Amino acid sequence: MNEPHILVLGAGSAGRRHTRNLRSLGCRLSAFDPRGDRIEETRGEGELVNGFTKLDEALNAQEYDGYVIASPPLFHVDQALAIRGKSKHWILSEKPLSVTAAEASRLEGVENILLGYTYRWWPPLGRYRERLQAGDIGAVRSMRFIMSAHLADWHPWEPYQDFFMANKEQGGGALLDESHFIDLMLWFLGAPSKVYAQVEKLSDLDISADDNVDIIVSYKSGARVNLHLDLVGRPHERSITAVGENGTLLYSYEENAIKFSNEGAAKWQVEKFDCERNEMFLGAARELLALIRDEKSEPLTCTVADGIAALKIVDACRASSDSDRAINLYA
Ligand SMILES: NC(=O)c1ccc[n+]([C@@H]2O[C@H](COP(=O)([O-])OP(=O)(O)OC[C@H]3O[C@@H](n4cnc5c(N)ncnc54)[C@H](O)[C@@H]3O)[C@@H](O)[C@H]2O)c1
Repeated sequence: MNEPHILVLGAGSAGRRHTRNLRSLGCRLSAFDPRGDRIEETRGEGELVNGFTKLDEALNAQEYDGYVIASPPLFHVDQALAIRGKSKHWILSEKPLSVTAAEASRLEGVENILLGYTYRWWPPLGRYRERLQAGDIGAVRSMRFIMSAHLADWHPWEPYQDFFMANKEQGGGALLDESHFIDLMLWFLGAPSKVYAQVEKLSDLDISADDNVDIIVSYKSGARVNLHLDLVGRPHERSITAVGENGTLLYSYEENAIKFSNEGAAKWQVEKFDCERNEMFLGAARELLALIRDEKSEPLTCTVADGIAALKIVDACRASSDSDRAINLYA
């Protein structure tokens, strides 16, 4: 297949990024977004075969060689099922798979979906996982994940109140959107046994969604994980620290470096990376193309099952926060 024709659903920030990347990899693109101005902006960035403001028209116009779902999370499942009604071709769905695990489970057994928890394609985090699993710091006793970034800085081209992230019903909020870090925890350590969380709206941000999340996670191995997610922090911080019996392994997104130390003083062995953020989205786009061309032999990097697993933790965090009790998992 020389120039696969891909339909992108949702022409906002993520949808247009996927459109640009897939075009740069030799695809032809069509786009659907209920907002005509978003279709025009997409067209302004490069050639579109077709632009649609109605989903039915987009799906009925023809069968495409592949699909990308980059709409707000509330719509992901229905749109994946609508595509499946027309075509068995591969779908790259943005994360989270949906807004609850029960909703996402409607996709259980639906084939040919690659899920876009894109940090899994980020080279430094692939390397971080390798080093954890190779035992560089020995048995992991605790991990800390921090994601702190003011929502008003995310989309400087629009008021943050207009962006789906502000809206609880559409799937906004720190917990759901930054479930990236829950997914990474599962990718690094596997399934936990217990979760305690506080999911809150604490800041002055004019949003209906949560903006501050603190989670304590327990593993049967004895390991403990803390995740802190907020939509308020400036300067932004994304970092992951694992403390093991034989040292500490830290990844800082801002420094784009993995640091290792097993000394009391802060002396670090530093592994620097020079990749840019778009590399993770290009990784997902390349995998989608390999799947479309039937050229991929290894397991998928991120699956529907991974998406449901992350949302089960999200649900447990909500239940814990609502009841102010720890929630046992996988009993
Ligand atoms: N993997 C990542 O790192 C990453 C980064 C950014 C966004 N995302 C994900 O991508 C998705 C979109 O986020 P965004 O930042 O592009 O938001 P956005 O608000 O910039 O774009 C969403 C677009 O969807 C459109 N839309 C609204 N209702 C729709 C519908 N029913 N069908 C199709 N389109 C519809 C909106 O008009 C808007 O243009 C979210 O699921 C988000 O979590 C992932």
